[in-house]
Amino acid sequence: MTGHLGWEQPRVQDWVDRFDAVMRAHVPWRDAAHRTALDLVSEFGATESIVDLGCGTGALCAWLLEQLPDSRVTGLERDPVMIAVAQAHLRGRATVREQDLTRSGWGAAGPARFSAAIASSVLHMVDAAGYAAVAGELAAVLRPGGLFVDIDEMAVDPPVPRLAAACAGLRQRTLAARVAGAREDHDAWWAALLTEPELAAAVRQRQERCSTGPSGPPASVAQRTAALLGAGFTEVAVVERRLDVAVLAALR
Ligand SMILES: C[S@@+](CC[C@H](N)C(=O)[O-])C[C@H]1O[C@@H](n2cnc3c(N)ncnc32)[C@H](O)[C@@H]1O
Repeated sequence: MTGHLGWEQPRVQDWVDRFDAVMRAHVPWRDAAHRTALDLVSEFGATESIVDLGCGTGALCAWLLEQLPDSRVTGLERDPVMIAVAQAHLRGRATVREQDLTRSGWGAAGPARFSAAIASSVLHMVDAAGYAAVAGELAAVLRPGGLFVDIDEMAVDPPVPRLAAACAGLRQRTLAARVAGAREDHDAWWAALLTEPELAAAVRQRQERCSTGPSGPPASVAQRTAALLGAGFTEVAVVERRLDVAVLAALR
């Protein structure tokens, strides 16, 4: 059976699995962090409708649906190529929508419509101002009592500059060793994917829409916490950390 893009399931699964392997090189405890997110969502009774922010290939959406078959899962993603892959992968089991999370207005489109939100390895791609924008929209789309879990690289905050540098450096060195032993790195995966003929239209849209990056470094834990509290979240804490990767949880 073929789905979106006319791809057979094994073909899209191969791209998804290869991207997961690339992501695991960056965050080796990725699966455990996803499990923590799911456990927290269950703990707070927030399983009804979950939004995956920056869903990429839809790997987390698919896993959430396996674990919670009664949940409604939505993936938001700004990259047209990733959207095409996620739609081919998920085949209608989750809604996948194009959305730049830093653009204002998406929160107003459907107030309080999600019980939980998860972002995995996404929000280091926006700066502190971008994070504050995302927090504001998120506060609008999460129902009161809803949960946000942010799994990401987040610098250990000052005033511990040597510890912060050591944590970032240690992970980068082990990352380099893992990448050296891997089939491909992030750039090689992208370079290979972009040659797929069925993605040509999405690649053109990607060039038009995803050309600008953040103007500053990723938001630190303190900046993320301040942004979420400022947007109306009531409790924010790092609940798990390994070196410079942390799981931050926030209650609406
Ligand atoms: C490193 S990938 C991780 C994908 C997925 N969350 C996962 O863990 O497999 C980061 C994803 O975030 C998306 N992204 C980055 N900034 C975004 C933004 N401002 N709005 C929506 N998506 C964004 C990228 O397009 C990319 O697909």
